[in-house]
Amino acid sequence: MGPKKVLVGVTGGIAAYKAADLVSRLVKQGIQVQVIMTENAARFISPLTFEALSGRPVWLDEFSTAGGLSVPHVQLAGEADLFVIVPATANTVAKLAWGMADNLLSAVALVYNKTLLIAPAMNTNMYHHPALQENLKILKSRGVCVIEPDSGRLACGATGPGKLAPVEEIVALVQWHLFQPKKLLGKKVVVTAGGTRENIDPVRYIGNRSSGKMGFALAQAAWLRGAEVVLIAGPVGLTPPSQVAFYPVESAREMREVVLQHYDEAHIVVKAAAVADYRVVDPGTQKIKKREQDLELVLTKNPDILRELGEKKRHQVLVGFAAETEELLDNAQEKLVKKNLDLIVANDVTRQDAGFNVDTNEVTLLFPDGRQELLPLMSKEALAHRIFEVIESLPRFQRFND
Ligand SMILES: Cc1cc2nc3c(=O)[nH]c(=O)nc-3n(C[C@H](O)[C@H](O)[C@H](O)COP(=O)(O)O)c2cc1C
Repeated sequence: MGPKKVLVGVTGGIAAYKAADLVSRLVKQGIQVQVIMTENAARFISPLTFEALSGRPVWLDEFSTAGGLSVPHVQLAGEADLFVIVPATANTVAKLAWGMADNLLSAVALVYNKTLLIAPAMNTNMYHHPALQENLKILKSRGVCVIEPDSGRLACGATGPGKLAPVEEIVALVQWHLFQPKKLLGKKVVVTAGGTRENIDPVRYIGNRSSGKMGFALAQAAWLRGAEVVLIAGPVGLTPPSQVAFYPVESAREMREVVLQHYDEAHIVVKAAAVADYRVVDPGTQKIKKREQDLELVLTKNPDILRELGEKKRHQVLVGFAAETEELLDNAQEKLVKKNLDLIVANDVTRQDAGFNVDTNEVTLLFPDGRQELLPLMSKEALAHRIFEVIESLPRFQRFND
């Protein structure tokens, strides 16, 4: 199977320049991008930019023979796995709704019979106009995915809806539509990520080195595989995937509360967070001042969230992580049994290229039947998908489909 092929249509709006960022991001993900522009789009941004970014000639003119295609609108439509129009002008939206084919882009859209995504962007009054709204309704009713514009200050000076949706969101939606199979469709997945913080006083805390990268990769992978995702994370410097329900928390006790709120409805819970085992008994209400003598902090045990989930487990598939610095597999095995898990992901956090704050990980998966599977070093994204592949193959998960 070769790379996925995406047609990017660019029309004549102010946001046309943002399509360059989209093309660049898609190409970086190994997607083969073919750009089609309207003649008006080429007044806003040069086709040369897209040719350089996509590494392919840009199609503008239906009647040109320069690209070596005899019937371009049919051949371009036939080759693509997905067609995304960014930005989609009010004019082009109207053409799509009414089946007009008076330029290459609209002709391709009429031939194209797979997934079509459009990201409208325009002046707020244009966006609110009943004609435009009717046209969007028609397109949605035909299965076109309309990526709703954001609200904000527009180039024309007006403030309101009409601003192109963030490019990250468009990229994510393209990925979602390309990703198959969707084995988690209809399933709710709860993921915890990052490290918790336990206050010493209002300005200091006890924390840990978890970056949240693994948990965020798991949330993104679950979403791409079709799940409704709840991501509960301690303070991390990462932007959550736009399509997941995101709950930022600080302490272990806050994390427990939010996890329990979602537990009954969850099909799968993956606890990748590094939760503090202890908290300060009596945190200062004011900043603790420096004194001559040493300072002693008394710590008390935090609730063991994973253990509690294991005890309350009914239908859920429960997956834990074991981040260890010694006797990795023995400790992970003990945790798997003690906490009634269906799978544990063990990683040695003393390694430079695995565990905390790096983009790669090398882990061993341990199963309740004693099986162990050592996975090779891979990106956290790839590992997240591998973990869900394994979860999807567990008999406990497959019961959901019986
Ligand atoms: C400076 C300028 C900015 C424009 N921005 C937009 C826009 O953001 N959205 C839109 O729908 N139309 C916008 N238009 C109007 C479109 O360019 C016009 O409707 C054109 O016919 C669209 O052609 P196309 O859909 O074939 O690309 C703009 C026009 C100008 C002159």
